[in-house]
Amino acid sequence: MYKPHTVCRACGLGSQGPSTLKISAAAGEIYKGPEALIPVFDLGIQPLANDFCGGSEERSGYAPLKVLYCPRCDLGQLSVTVSPNILYAHNYAYVTSTSQTMKDHFGMLTRDLLEQAGRKCPVLEIGSNDGTLLAHFRDQGFPIVMGIDPAQNLALEAKKKDVTTLCAMFGREAARTAKSSMGTPGIILARHCFCHIDNWREFIQSCEALCDERTVVAIEVPYAHDMLAKNEFDTVYHEHLSYLSLKSVQYLLANSTLQLTRVIEYSIHGGALLLILRKIGHPVHESVGRMLKAERCGRADWQRFSNQAELKIMELSALVRNLATKGKIVAGYGASAKSTVWISACGFDKQQIKFISDTTKGKWYKNSPGTGIPIVDDGALTRDLPDYAVLFAWNYEKECIAKEQIFLDKGGTWIIPSPAIRLVSKTSL
Ligand code: TMP
Repeated sequence: MYKPHTVCRACGLGSQGPSTLKISAAAGEIYKGPEALIPVFDLGIQPLANDFCGGSEERSGYAPLKVLYCPRCDLGQLSVTVSPNILYAHNYAYVTSTSQTMKDHFGMLTRDLLEQAGRKCPVLEIGSNDGTLLAHFRDQGFPIVMGIDPAQNLALEAKKKDVTTLCAMFGREAARTAKSSMGTPGIILARHCFCHIDNWREFIQSCEALCDERTVVAIEVPYAHDMLAKNEFDTVYHEHLSYLSLKSVQYLLANSTLQLTRVIEYSIHGGALLLILRKIGHPVHESVGRMLKAERCGRADWQRFSNQAELKIMELSALVRNLATKGKIVAGYGASAKSTVWISACGFDKQQIKFISDTTKGKWYKNSPGTGIPIVDDGALTRDLPDYAVLFAWNYEKECIAKEQIFLDKGGTWIIPSPAIRLVSKTSL
């Protein structure tokens, strides 16, 4: 089901024999630190975050959830790699959000990429999910759009939107097929899938094979610097194999024909970066040097993060247990992967969280992974009026609170778990 991970996927630290990347890509200095990855954060054995199952369905299982840190390039990476066939191949539950927050983000992304590419060109999206973003590009007048995604259920959804999708994991072979089908893409876009990929070298080489001088490779990723600073520990789950530093990107690209030419910051998903890669020779924007200098993804930052996460888990666990003991009904809102991390870390079950309300039909009548907590439709909060609701979809706070006005009007209280635990009721607004 999973294999151990011991060699840094960006700089190769931990591999046997002489390393070709001893010299720092950024500074030209010789590396003299530890020669193995270092454990920095451990959530024990956890269920897979998106393994939402009905009562009689077979579970995919449990795996260790531990982060190792690379002392050479500051990349955080899980200590195990769960087989992608188990995580993604059949019915992947994560569907691109159609929330207003996401629509606004897509608008920004399209504008920024148009500016980078300088023209409405063919777009290839890696990890294209149900084709929502590609349909948006097409509607904005981009001439050809094509997706690559390994999940069969999502490729079918994309087809319904008339978005051509190659149902495969991205790699050399998929790159060849895509190129023969659409020609050279002007934009290669990968949103929030890069950190799900084990073999980064093959990913970069496959992108290189697809690119010409004009191609813009745009990789949207969560940024470890932000995750560590805001203690967003619920971003750590089995699908996220890497917690990216810009330093690690420099190492990764050191032996390739691509270079990091610009970094654009977004607020989506609690803070994300759009990495712009282009063939060597393109001018490098000042954002690259500025952000590398300000980057804080070191071992001490991970240590602080781990200590704070432990405190937050204890705090939410005590708060919810205390309320349940007093006879208060506590529900969850948003059966996100983040919700699984919180629930497993706190050890909650139906006794503490009665149900989780979610807009995604595919999750209804299933259980939160590893528990008997049922997921129900998005009318449940106003229908059942629990006393408290933990907003596991805290990254959509404004939108969710505005949508569930009746819950607040009738005396309900939100528990917002992140970035710091706080209560929101009608009187506190
Ligand atoms: P995400 O953070 O991975 O996008 O997941 C958010 C989850 O929250 C997803 O399952 C959909 C759900 N959700 C709601 O139930 N109501 C909402 O208003 C929003 C924005 C999301």
